[in-house]
Amino acid sequence: MDHKKTVWKPGTVLAPVPVVLVSCGRPGGKPNLITVAWVGTICSEPPMVSISVRPERYSHDIIRDTGEFVINLPGADLAWAVDWCGVVSGRGVDKFAGAKLTPAPAREVHAPIVAECSLAMECRVRQVLTPGSHTVFLAEVVAVQAEAALERPGGRFAFEEAGLLSYAHGHYYVLGRQVGHFGYSVRKKAT
Ligand SMILES: Cc1cc2nc3c(=O)[nH]c(=O)nc-3n(C[C@H](O)[C@H](O)[C@H](O)COP(=O)(O)O)c2cc1C
Repeated sequence: MDHKKTVWKPGTVLAPVPVVLVSCGRPGGKPNLITVAWVGTICSEPPMVSISVRPERYSHDIIRDTGEFVINLPGADLAWAVDWCGVVSGRGVDKFAGAKLTPAPAREVHAPIVAECSLAMECRVRQVLTPGSHTVFLAEVVAVQAEAALERPGGRFAFEEAGLLSYAHGHYYVLGRQVGHFGYSVRKKAT
């Protein structure tokens, strides 16, 4: 590549991004799932994340009213379910049943986690922003559930085996080859 650029109109071309299954539910009601790609980490202490949800989504008012949701990280084996939960509304459909996913109890929130996902972050909404097309829910992670089979010595999570799904402008990808690790650029080479 010669690094010559063409100028595009402004847009959110950030890629790749994680794509997640967000579970939510009203107490006593049927739980729902919404596929979300506009998801981010915003703070370490306290641990906080964000999801951006359009007001017209069925899940939007559930999350706004309950102040709770779970971010479930799917593997590539769940790509079909992720896509389906992102094109069908939970207004008239049981998405857990339709996607053949299992709701399992969360520790700190009412919404269930997705049993088939290897990581689940239980979240409580702390702030709500309305910058435009999407409502941004800023939420504290109040519990994490991790697949025990992917835990390694020292509390490490085997991301290299989890096959987590990512998304880049209409296409799904799977986390691939590791090309470095934190701080390797300044670490001395072993002699
Ligand atoms: C890959 C993918 C990513 C999506 N990301 C978002 C998102 O970040 N925010 C959003 O509001 N909708 C997003 N959607 C659309 C919703 O998932 C979709 O409208 C869904 O049917 C809403 O479900 P609900 O009406 O049951 O809440 C995405 C869909 C797909 C397929």
